[in-house]
Amino acid sequence: MSARPARVVWFAAAPDPAPPEPLSLVVERFERLLAAPEPIPAEDPGASLNPKQLERFAAVLAADPARWRHLVRHRQDARVYEQIFSDERVNAWLICWGDGHDTGFHDHNDSAGGIAVVAGRVREERLAVGSPTVTRELSAGECFNVPATAIHRVLNGGAQPAITIHAYSPPLTRMGAYRIGPGGALEREALSHEQELRAEALAA
Ligand SMILES: [Fe+2]
Repeated sequence: MSARPARVVWFAAAPDPAPPEPLSLVVERFERLLAAPEPIPAEDPGASLNPKQLERFAAVLAADPARWRHLVRHRQDARVYEQIFSDERVNAWLICWGDGHDTGFHDHNDSAGGIAVVAGRVREERLAVGSPTVTRELSAGECFNVPATAIHRVLNGGAQPAITIHAYSPPLTRMGAYRIGPGGALEREALSHEQELRAEALAA
């Protein structure tokens, strides 16, 4: 994750024909998702949340803008991260994306993740070998999960700034960033969760 920015620059996106959706409508969409039955919890109450539980956890945070709305800000030069939840089982961040922002391919070490989109659009790609990457696009009011085994990449998929909420269990402490090394060999660089992922590590 990035260090706290020294200088905040409000993001000025190119004109987009579709105005941002009102937050109240996005929250209603998450509330409808949350009306579905909860995923079956692990028998051990201290166990890590599974990916479906994490997806729901991210939706719960997304449906409660009082927790995070005051932290929203955008920079053109980097994604903005703000931690909005932390306990012994889960930690969660608000992430604000500008035009072209891209994590590059990475993993979350042994943590699974749940991601809720609260504004704009994001694209997720799962790294595959011998076949094209598996891609999906998500809009405000949608959520998805990332198993701990996945190697993925997330990009701002729209013309407007995007805002997402990411929850991890066990709490995210380490990540791995992938890049192409000498001779085309795939290399993994171990990172702290406080270091920012950059697309130049491996973008395709
Ligand atoms: Fe990720």
